[in-house]
Amino acid sequence: MKGLILSGGKGTRLRPLTYTRAKQLLPLANKPVLFYAIESLLAAGIEEIGIVVGDTHAEIEAAVGDGSRWGANVRIQFIAQEAPLGLAHAVKTAQPFLGEDRFVMFLGDNLIGEALAPMVRDFAAPDCAYRCHILLTEVENPSQFGIAELEPAPVPALVGEAGSGTPAPLRVRRLVEKPAVPPSNLALVGIYFFDSRIFTAADAIQPSARGELEITDAIQWLIDHGHDVRAQRLRGYWIDTGKMEDILDANRQVLLGLEPTIDPTAIISETSALHGAVTIQAGARIENSVIRGPAIIGERCVIQNAYIGPFTSIYHDTRITASEVEYSIVLEHSQIVDVRGRIEESLIGRHSEVYTSTRKPRGHKLMLGDHSRVGVLPS
Ligand code: G1P
Repeated sequence: MKGLILSGGKGTRLRPLTYTRAKQLLPLANKPVLFYAIESLLAAGIEEIGIVVGDTHAEIEAAVGDGSRWGANVRIQFIAQEAPLGLAHAVKTAQPFLGEDRFVMFLGDNLIGEALAPMVRDFAAPDCAYRCHILLTEVENPSQFGIAELEPAPVPALVGEAGSGTPAPLRVRRLVEKPAVPPSNLALVGIYFFDSRIFTAADAIQPSARGELEITDAIQWLIDHGHDVRAQRLRGYWIDTGKMEDILDANRQVLLGLEPTIDPTAIISETSALHGAVTIQAGARIENSVIRGPAIIGERCVIQNAYIGPFTSIYHDTRITASEVEYSIVLEHSQIVDVRGRIEESLIGRHSEVYTSTRKPRGHKLMLGDHSRVGVLPS
């Protein structure tokens, strides 16, 4: 089995942060979203991974490297997609890398709270009878996703050890991309299991109304041509980190699962208090501050006379002085100084400064990137 991670796309809903950074590199608990996808595949024993990249390829390649940071056997290569023409187009682009191997395709900005190993084991089995396996989850807004309609009765698992804990896959009858009238509320999450038949399907379909080769249309082609397509409901969480609210929620989920550690090189003053699951990374300094976990403070950060509340990730080289931050992500090299009123539900980009201005005339003094959003307290 190989892994294919899609990491192109423009991330328009996360502007302005995505003007200067690939959305897949936004950090959750101080680690890029994309690394969680890579590590999900590695945890399922998949060590040969192709990453489909677009305009942001240089930054992604620099961050990921050749895979050796994850182990000597891990091989990662990059596959250039000339334009974001759809998920099925990305699959076609990756055909030379994938060859005849079965593979798991993982959208690089998706996060799941469930191990893939049992599904990978079943799909990789030589006698696995189905050609495609998708994962589904119930959503409140089915018109925004690919939606599945299932055959009424569950069929027994065709492979898999008895008692392995893998629920019997369900047979898929029909898939529709972003339906105006959804046949169910079961959305396709961004993780798919395919074999090489998907290339024939991707070659056969036409672009959708949005001008993309849709993976749902390719899978529907498999069903229409008599191939067995199975689905399984995800039991853990799934977050598509496309919007700020989703990034903050994903950060919350990751922090909840993070084993707290205090790096020995961190300095924590006696007048500081750490409550709950708090991770402090190398060289950080905490002075006269309260940190309530789950939270993470990055390398070389300085936190002085401050309060850092639950579900907050402060990335490297950031300084927070006499301010309060909760349920937020602050990126590298930022400064938050003397801010009255707690900063909450915020995503603050690299090299940002938030401070109290004493210059006349009195007023909010802003320099914001395009598509920024600021919510000020009522007076
Ligand atoms: C894509 C797929 C859709 C799937 C979704 C999951 O949508 O086309 O079927 O439900 O990913 O994130 P897109 O993000 O391209 O709108």
